[in-house]
Amino acid sequence: MLFTIQVNNKKIKAEKGETILSALNRNGIKIPTLCRMKDFTPTGACRMCVVEVEGRERLVTACSQPVEEWMKIKTHSPRVITARKTIVELLLSNHPDDCLYCVRNLNCELQRLSEELSIRERRIRGRKVKQRLDQSSPAITRELSKCILCGRCVRVCEEVITANSLDFIKKGKATHVGAAMDKDFNFSSCIHCGQCVLVCPTGALHEKHNITEVQDYLNRHDVVKVIQYSPLVTIGIAEELGLRYNKDADKVLNAILRRIGFDKVFATGTGTDVCITELTAQLSEKIENGNPAPIYISACPAWVKYAEQFSPALIPFLSPVKSPQQITGVLVKTLVADQLKVKPEEIFSVSATPCMAMKFEARRDGMMRKGISDVDTVLTVRELVRLIRLYGIDTSNIEQEQADEPLAGRSSSALLAEISGGLTEAVLRLYHFQKTRKDADKQMFKKLRTGGQFREAVIKIDKAEINVAVVDGLTGLEKLKAAIAAGRNYDMVEVMTCQGGCVHGAGLPFSSTKDEIRNRSKLVYGADDTEAINLPCKSPAIINLYEKLLKENSEISDRKIFYTHFEKRNVLL
Ligand code: SF4
Ligand code: SF4
Ligand code: FES
Repeated sequence: MLFTIQVNNKKIKAEKGETILSALNRNGIKIPTLCRMKDFTPTGACRMCVVEVEGRERLVTACSQPVEEWMKIKTHSPRVITARKTIVELLLSNHPDDCLYCVRNLNCELQRLSEELSIRERRIRGRKVKQRLDQSSPAITRELSKCILCGRCVRVCEEVITANSLDFIKKGKATHVGAAMDKDFNFSSCIHCGQCVLVCPTGALHEKHNITEVQDYLNRHDVVKVIQYSPLVTIGIAEELGLRYNKDADKVLNAILRRIGFDKVFATGTGTDVCITELTAQLSEKIENGNPAPIYISACPAWVKYAEQFSPALIPFLSPVKSPQQITGVLVKTLVADQLKVKPEEIFSVSATPCMAMKFEARRDGMMRKGISDVDTVLTVRELVRLIRLYGIDTSNIEQEQADEPLAGRSSSALLAEISGGLTEAVLRLYHFQKTRKDADKQMFKKLRTGGQFREAVIKIDKAEINVAVVDGLTGLEKLKAAIAAGRNYDMVEVMTCQGGCVHGAGLPFSSTKDEIRNRSKLVYGADDTEAINLPCKSPAIINLYEKLLKENSEISDRKIFYTHFEKRNVLL
């Protein structure tokens, strides 16, 4: 039901049941918020969104108060502005003054609010509480001195990721956000998804930076500097640098990476095509042998850690096929090392990815051989952008270049795998082609593409009826469990931690709004519709790898390097 309210002496339409903030925003009136997150129940904790409502003694929080028919509201009265200013001044009173050195400089909500509210002097002097810098996690750095206790990270971790790794610790002035028992982050249930980093308004949470290490290696002449980048990195880079994403965008990125100083530039997409091929072989074998055990895809490293910690009963069903990053990494340290006639330790192997958990994945025990990591360092898209800027690359004026053989190309299926449900679709498409020698009609997979956080379908291919489920974000696991408890059996289950898939990865640009995430998915589907090579088995890189290179190299010909194992993990070890 629509009714009229008065805002700043003008009448606007409001809807019964909505909050004051929602009515204001719909009518183009902006007011600042801090603790609020779209689609979350408001807590009213920060009071940044206060407005004056005639007849109410206290200012009310617009994000949590429902709008009422009689309301006369002032959104920018002197009293309201003073209140908002005081909140920001109090936050700044014990905030470190190191904006110039902060990772979120020019991209910080506290800095923006301070600017918008015209705060030009430090009126309130608080005691700067020295909080420790926690760098113990392989993926995330916590700078607690920059935390403004908005609670967004706590809520995302609890309500979206369901890992419950963060909470408010202690009371009063000593309150801070920390892991269970206030231990360092590496002793926590954190699965390194980084979704808390994406919502943190300040520099209190960010990825562990590896740029300096990469720079050091770029200056060395005794190692071969190699970089692989996953298919979505190009989209993220284009977004951040204002470039147009099209079919040649990968070639532009290849050239940029060579200008920075990498000797070899490889496409992680080749590794994704291997991953799809191996998963299809696993599915095919399962169907042929009538094996009832489900296959849980393990390409999302945050999901794998979640399963190891919270669902150990699923570990035997996790596919042993490595993730695309690790498959590409192991090929670099075996096949490529061989071709270059260097030892694996003489290659410095970097991976650029939209995922923060891959920083952790690269350090897993199963991802190194004879003490040498397959991937030495992982950079997020944001870090890669910083590296590009640091090296002063003029991206508007650059010749396109091919990636390096033998990991130079990918199919469009490899790009599709970056979207929730995409890897399952890619495997089924390849299985369909192997059985019928024809491309599958994409309509077959419609149910896997949209339909909420838990999607299921029965896909008929040849004589088989394949039951598949897609869990899009970890809150979807509850529905999966309920479906299994009700007697449903699945042949293949895909779980992705970040809602939407890697298009929502925490290593992508900070301003990841829902529209941007949707746009990334659109670009992926668009590329999948138009690119000529739609399946791994049609990609020259994969044909060359499986039909020639693997056979020629006895160290890798049995393909064991593409496989790993998973183990139960004690969260608080
Ligand atoms: S990285 Fe993910 S699991 Fe870890 S604290 Fe943040 S939201 Fe929670
Ligand atoms: S770490 Fe960031 S998101 Fe979490 S409470 Fe502090 S400021 Fe808010
Ligand atoms: S944004 Fe409304 S109380 Fe924080």
